[in-house]
Amino acid sequence: MIEEKAADATRADAPVDALMANLERIASHLVGRERELELTLAAVAAGRDILLEGPPGTSKTTILTAITQEWGIPLLFVEGNADLTPAKLVGHHNPARVLKEDYSAENFVGGPLVEAMREGGFLYIEEFNRAPEDTLNTLLTAMADRSIAVPRVGRIRAKPTFRVIASMNPYDNVGTTRLSTSVHDRLNRLAVDYQDAPSEERIVALRTGAGGALGEQLTVDAVAVTRATRSHPDVRQGSSVRGAIDLVLVGMKLAGLRRVAAPDHEKYAGLVFDAMIVALSGRIHLDEAIETTPERVLREIWEDRFILEPSAAKPG
Ligand SMILES: Nc1ncnc2c1ncn2[C@@H]1O[C@H](COP(=O)(O)OP(=O)(O)OP(=O)(O)O)[C@@H](O)[C@H]1O
Ligand SMILES: [Mg+2]
Repeated sequence: MIEEKAADATRADAPVDALMANLERIASHLVGRERELELTLAAVAAGRDILLEGPPGTSKTTILTAITQEWGIPLLFVEGNADLTPAKLVGHHNPARVLKEDYSAENFVGGPLVEAMREGGFLYIEEFNRAPEDTLNTLLTAMADRSIAVPRVGRIRAKPTFRVIASMNPYDNVGTTRLSTSVHDRLNRLAVDYQDAPSEERIVALRTGAGGALGEQLTVDAVAVTRATRSHPDVRQGSSVRGAIDLVLVGMKLAGLRRVAAPDHEKYAGLVFDAMIVALSGRIHLDEAIETTPERVLREIWEDRFILEPSAAKPG
């Protein structure tokens, strides 16, 4: 049943209506992102692999989880780093059993690539550009052939819904390989960026459940100061919407502890600053050439919002 649904949507001649229904159901799991979802779905339904390029916290995993859940197929995660050898991706023979039984197909333990191929799942490689070159080559061969030859096991063929989805952070420049043009030539690519403020506010509201005058004002302020970390001149990479989510969760608890019941309370602005320190100071990456601290940057952002332009922060 499940596989029929998945196979339907992925056939080139699959009825457009089925894909439309797919799209609408998947979209209901997401705030905004209509365009990114439509383009990603079109690529994977066309049988293609894709690279999603964007900073952390920009819905990449959320989109893929929604598509694979709709298709009823597994989503396997792998983190690209120097330790991701081809053997880790493909799998290995259980050494204890090899000693007793010698090598055989039965004592082969499939790695995530082989599992995704066998089960027709999506193999999601985060930080793709951190994986070593020989690992990328193994992957590219599997993508091109839709099968893989495993020594002493034989050729493993991928089910039709097998896809490789890669992601990378465009700001990431430490410990990464520059992907060669031949790698780029084998992948489709979609750039994803931060969503607009109203969408981020909806995401924060959805993930925190914070309501009432206090919860609503805190959500607006949290999104505003989080977004300000992305454009501050001393910051190389600011915080994603995850920072705003945590800011609201921490802020609501602080409000309880300090008996701040409404945003017009005199202690409200100070409470936001303290929650910013907890939720954002570890999430902003400073420009190395500038001598400052995350706390100082956050103080400036807070002053801009609550002292210089207090009208922007006023409720109502
Ligand atoms: N469009 C969206 N709709 C609903 N929730 C979202 C959306 N975008 C992000 N989120 C929420 O924000 C958080 C981060 O999103 P997600 O994990 O999808 O980001 P990501 O792009 O995979 O990040 P990373 O590159 O760090 O893995 C999650 O808690 C997720 O629920
Ligand atoms: Mg992710």
